[in-house]
Amino acid sequence: MKKILSASLLAAMLFVPASSFAAQDEITLPTVEIKSKLSVMEALSKRKSDRNFVDKDLKPAQLAKILWAANGTNRPDGKRVNPAALGVYSIEVYAVTREGIYLYDEANHKLKLIAEGDFRPLTTTGQEFATKAAVNLIYVETPEVWSNTKRNAPREVQFSFANIAVGAMIQSVALAAETEGLGNCVRGSINRDELKKVAKLSEDKNILLAQSVGFVK
Ligand SMILES: Cc1cc2nc3c(=O)[nH]c(=O)nc-3n(C[C@H](O)[C@H](O)[C@H](O)COP(=O)(O)O)c2cc1C
Repeated sequence: MKKILSASLLAAMLFVPASSFAAQDEITLPTVEIKSKLSVMEALSKRKSDRNFVDKDLKPAQLAKILWAANGTNRPDGKRVNPAALGVYSIEVYAVTREGIYLYDEANHKLKLIAEGDFRPLTTTGQEFATKAAVNLIYVETPEVWSNTKRNAPREVQFSFANIAVGAMIQSVALAAETEGLGNCVRGSINRDELKKVAKLSEDKNILLAQSVGFVK
């Protein structure tokens, strides 16, 4: 009987790099492989900032792992890998790669294309290594989510909660990166004004932090 392979299965079998999917408006990421070569303690013992990236795309499975560590869900009720004060998840994660800017849709474990093109230089104010990292994660506060919940907090407390949430996210990503032998560097120096424009972020959203992840020399 003639076997018909789906495009995604064929791509997975061929280990097509993440960038090869870039033309698609929506990318369904592979299921995250939970087993890893390193224990949590081993990953902690290796954690450090890396700045010697090589411009090489991650495999889809690696990108999936990094995004899931950043903002993925880990329970059927939609709660996430990382904690959030009052259960109000106010952080969106964007992935800026050689091919474009994507929003990580954590509920569906998908990437949604926002803008096509290499905008990695806009994720920094001049640190060249960021332009080579396979992916620059951008952590964006979306204060409007508070208005969709019964929870409330003064604006400055919401902002503080958002920054604390990002602190948890960057550490999870750092550990996940170590399990894949990838480097990472958290970055506060970002060209926020330009990135906000190309990522089509509404005025109320705040770019809090960036994190470069990729292969290193
Ligand atoms: C909130 C925050 C912002 C940072 N911003 C930058 C940055 O813009 N550029 C950079 O190269 N490193 C940045 N870092 C990384 C620190 O420089 C680094 O963590 C520190 O020097 C300690 O080194 P280690 O991470 O290797 O232990 C940042 C780290 C944090 C937590």
